[in-house]
Amino acid sequence: MSVAPPPAPDRPGHSDRADGADRAGQAPARPYPYDAPASAALMERAQRVIPGGVNSPVRAYRAVGGTPRFMASARGAWLTDADGRRYVDMVGSWGPMILGHADPRVLDAVREAAAQGFSFGTPSENEVALAEEIVARVAPVEQVRLVSSGTEATMSAVRLARGATGRSTIVKFAGCYHGHVDALLAHAGSGVATFALPDSAGVPASAAGETMVLPFNDVAALEAAFAEHGSRIAAVITEAAPGNMGVVPPAPGWTAALRRVSRAHGALLISDEVMTGFRCSRAGWYGLEGPYDVRVAPPGDGTAGTAGAGAAPDAVLTRGAPVDHGAPDLFTFGKVMGGGFPAAAFGGRAELMELLAPTGPVYQAGTLSGNPVATAAGLATLRACDDAVYARLDTAARAIADGASAALAAQGVPHAVQWAGSMFSVFFTQGPVTNYDQARAQDLDAFRAFFHAMLAAGVHLPPSAFEVWFVSAAHDDAAVEAVLAALPEAARAAARASTRASAGASARDSMGA
Ligand SMILES: Cc1ncc(COP(=O)(O)O)c(C=O)c1O
Repeated sequence: MSVAPPPAPDRPGHSDRADGADRAGQAPARPYPYDAPASAALMERAQRVIPGGVNSPVRAYRAVGGTPRFMASARGAWLTDADGRRYVDMVGSWGPMILGHADPRVLDAVREAAAQGFSFGTPSENEVALAEEIVARVAPVEQVRLVSSGTEATMSAVRLARGATGRSTIVKFAGCYHGHVDALLAHAGSGVATFALPDSAGVPASAAGETMVLPFNDVAALEAAFAEHGSRIAAVITEAAPGNMGVVPPAPGWTAALRRVSRAHGALLISDEVMTGFRCSRAGWYGLEGPYDVRVAPPGDGTAGTAGAGAAPDAVLTRGAPVDHGAPDLFTFGKVMGGGFPAAAFGGRAELMELLAPTGPVYQAGTLSGNPVATAAGLATLRACDDAVYARLDTAARAIADGASAALAAQGVPHAVQWAGSMFSVFFTQGPVTNYDQARAQDLDAFRAFFHAMLAAGVHLPPSAFEVWFVSAAHDDAAVEAVLAALPEAARAAARASTRASAGASARDSMGA
């Protein structure tokens, strides 16, 4: 079954320029034919042999319609599809490509590792070096176990928490996605939010029945749940700063409450940094927050919910009082630490981690865990992530987010830009979003029109309103300019499609660091 393409947007504007930039006022070298015949043909073939034609649901464009672009190659900030068209990549493989695509340092490391053999099934030096790099970056992590995906990391962390506490209930938060682990799929964000599925078929009641789902950022609900069920809760798992319902940073006091309440009841706190890890800072979200009750102030005047179009570009993150509730007990990592290859990890204090086999009773294993090529890619990526990389991410993200906000505001399209470090997303909502219910109230018609106009102009946004707009250190001025040039027409398309846009209305809501 093929998905009917949406009408072609008004402004075909993709350019064939060598740098891919389609600068405002310049006619494109050749018109961009909006249908994508090679991708469409591949999708036809794919749907015969792969469910929905894709190996991960959000790639199918079901939330936006049209032909998913099959990519053939990628370099730096640019993707080239099967029809030979170039796009500025705002997905970054959903997070890993922090340096941009095919970074030469990573490419060299991969070539070198692959030349020595693909997989040994024995310990090897790269995995030790990658573990050392992670431990050196994230202070509370003394040991890590390497796995192959974020899903495996969270699944294993939950098992470890249950083994350590002898309890079985897990608390998670609506809109947080932790991979497709049975017990963690309830009210997840990401693809599940995209399709508005409350849950997944195939998850037994017994697995879901051990999961309590609470609203994010709601201290009273957290305290009430623990007051009633505290003695059977093994762990609280949270996205350190959620990105899977769009970016919803922890409200002031939320992280401290998580630590205080879980600790008071003998439950472990699992901070899922699969997305934020090594992206929000060199030590991920924890690197911004540390042992503090963090106050995430938006760009502008430092009070919540004030910034938007025209705001000062430099958001600040202020630290409140140190909290004496310690750090999260376990962390999960993925994405950036694999550099585009399948590598992920979970880690924490040594006394907890040593409960894993072979030193302890909690079994966990993997044929390809610590794969020498994947660990070489991850190590080269992390080693290249220096201050200059994080500064470039900030600059590129600010420029694009401010441009998007200004363009939408000019067309009266209600929206909110929200931040977690350099991670941001644009909500098509009337105001700031602090939880999943608010995230789901987006104007999805406006988003769809916006997405397709951006695609037509050569910008590949995440094909869902519930996802982060990822930038990389390779998003140089040409890439940023190409995105900025596409925004005004996309905002006009959003305004035309929106049932909520009003002349003169401008959302000036922004949160985050
Ligand atoms: C916060 C978070 N945790 C876990 C996962 C699952 O990771 P993977 O897709 O590698 O299984 C994701 C994936 O997007 C994620 O964003």
